[in-house]
Amino acid sequence: MLEFLGEFRRTHYCGELREEHEGQRVRLAGWVDTVRNHGGVVFIDLRDRSGIVQVVVEELKTPEAYEIADRVKPEFVVAVEGVVRRRPEGTENPKLPTGFVEVVADRVLVLNEAKQPLPFQVEDEISVGEETRLRYRYLDLRRRPMLEKLLTRHKTYQVVRNFLTDEGFIEVETPLLTKSTPEGARDFVVPSRLHPGKFYALPQSPQLFKQILMVAGVDRYFQIAKCLRDEDLRADRQPEFTQIDFEMSFVGRKEVMEVAENLVKEVFKKVLGVELNEPFPVMAYDEVYSKYGTDKPDLRIREDKVSPLIDLTEVFKDTQFKVFRSVVDKGGVIKAVVARGAAKELSRQKIDELTKFVQKLGAKGLAWIRVDEDKLTSPITKFFSEEEVKALLERTEAKPGDVIFFQADADSELVHKVLDALRRRLADELKAREEGYRFLWVVDFPLVEWDEEEERFVSVHHPFTMPREEDLPKIDEALKTEDLEERKKVLSTVRSLAYDLVLNGHEVGGGSIRIHRPDLQKKIFKLLDIGEVEAQEKFGFLLEALQYGAPPHGGFAFGLDRLLALMTGSESIRDVIAFPKTQKGICPLTGAPDYLDPKQLKEVHCKVEEPEQ
Ligand code: AMO
Ligand code: AMP
Repeated sequence: MLEFLGEFRRTHYCGELREEHEGQRVRLAGWVDTVRNHGGVVFIDLRDRSGIVQVVVEELKTPEAYEIADRVKPEFVVAVEGVVRRRPEGTENPKLPTGFVEVVADRVLVLNEAKQPLPFQVEDEISVGEETRLRYRYLDLRRRPMLEKLLTRHKTYQVVRNFLTDEGFIEVETPLLTKSTPEGARDFVVPSRLHPGKFYALPQSPQLFKQILMVAGVDRYFQIAKCLRDEDLRADRQPEFTQIDFEMSFVGRKEVMEVAENLVKEVFKKVLGVELNEPFPVMAYDEVYSKYGTDKPDLRIREDKVSPLIDLTEVFKDTQFKVFRSVVDKGGVIKAVVARGAAKELSRQKIDELTKFVQKLGAKGLAWIRVDEDKLTSPITKFFSEEEVKALLERTEAKPGDVIFFQADADSELVHKVLDALRRRLADELKAREEGYRFLWVVDFPLVEWDEEEERFVSVHHPFTMPREEDLPKIDEALKTEDLEERKKVLSTVRSLAYDLVLNGHEVGGGSIRIHRPDLQKKIFKLLDIGEVEAQEKFGFLLEALQYGAPPHGGFAFGLDRLLALMTGSESIRDVIAFPKTQKGICPLTGAPDYLDPKQLKEVHCKVEEPEQ
């Protein structure tokens, strides 16, 4: 046996063999995908990274090899040697690229066995819980669709590196053991053994370092960077994820957006073979938000089937319908979405389901009107005046067959949130999404927003984001007044030079032009109620760097995992990450996070406090 292995050199990958190899003697190695004994003949589908080929072992011709082949089980690791032959007529399998040939093996060697039964079969389609898939990730990754995702990821790295290198960017690594960075999530921390009581923070992004690289004159930097954020997880969020991160000097937002757009177009072309020829549309945040109720709309939703949000506050300003009346009196908003031509699909029962759906999101109800040929069917029209009905139909351009859904609330954010969710839900129900990739640039974000919990203004992006030039005087004005309401009002109109890239309803990247002058940076800290001492403590090193000749600069970061999930049609970003964490932040493969033994804890000067019940 060992003798065979000693001389064994693989000649081909399984998936490579074609009719042109007929008559050649080949040596293959891989995993047993399936094994069937047809009495005197064993068929093994042998799999490696490249694909599958059928191996035939015949009892009469090669009894020794047959005996071994007869004992193998799925996922055994085997090596075979034999001759390629054309499959007998009628036994070809056109579904396999190798399906017109087979290897008649005269030597078979079991290199390793696989414990049986397997936790799950290695097949393209499986219905196994994700916990199990992640625990046995090595089996999961043997599956073709998962391997394809790894390959897509690999190709993407190469295209990104080549493209950015050609554009004059230099790849620089930034540290993982560092100080807290300000992306607004919680930090993961690492205790220092050498400095009792001190901690490193793992970076939420390379933000501060890339800015310092600009001060260092690097001019154009990029990195495929690991980012770590201790936040609540969702399908498109991982505690540890990857960014395609870049930064440029002496540019405005137009140039940065251009590089990001061209980069993503290059990736789609080279990796997916998809040409995105049109320039990506650009919309201001205010417009996007009021039209779609979110800053990341899914533009695949056909607006002739599910309308954007229509503001009806004005139409109902004098209404007698008490639900709307009270909202108007409280200064709230009334908005609607029209499901066009969907009256048949949206039965009463369906509408009840939709009502329950929005109520779970905090909505108080879901008023609706069905427009029939000669009348309106609705629980609420009886409360409307004739003029109101007329104005409503005009404003919504509703036609027979349409269903209008209303959201009224004193809290306008709730109205937007609910109608955004309703639009996505209606698009599912009515199959109103187009195929393909719909990108959108969102620009002119507010610089800051009021945080009710913290009772202070917080950055919408991060504190180093440059305000629009023309809004700078408003910042001085806001700082002058002590009146909080007045300050909120002034600041609500200040826009930043930040931009997000949205794809099919997901934020796949974001960036901004940065503040490069220390005086303005200090002013913004003041606005954010970050005291001088705190600013020095947290970002003193950046403020200092800005004093030594910082060029104007700006940059961008793609969420690589999100982009890949969309490119590969994956439901969660976990599918495009080799070893992801579960929704609960656990790695079922390694068992991380885990307890430390007392000695290790002591070494890093830490004590664990039992969590309170
Ligand atoms: P931001 O915080 O917007 O910007 O992150 C950039 C992109 O990273 C992705 N992303 C995530 N992906 C998976 N899991 C997460 N937990 C997660 N968080 C963010 C998103 C997002 O658009 N330093 C700035 C960039 C810059 O200004 O240049 C930054 O990190 O797709
Ligand atoms: P009510 O008078 O509470 O029975 O509500 C009449 C209709 O208006 C019902 O169809 C409710 O679902 C709907 N409704 C109630 N509150 C709201 C609201 N805030 N926004 C939209 N529709 C509502």
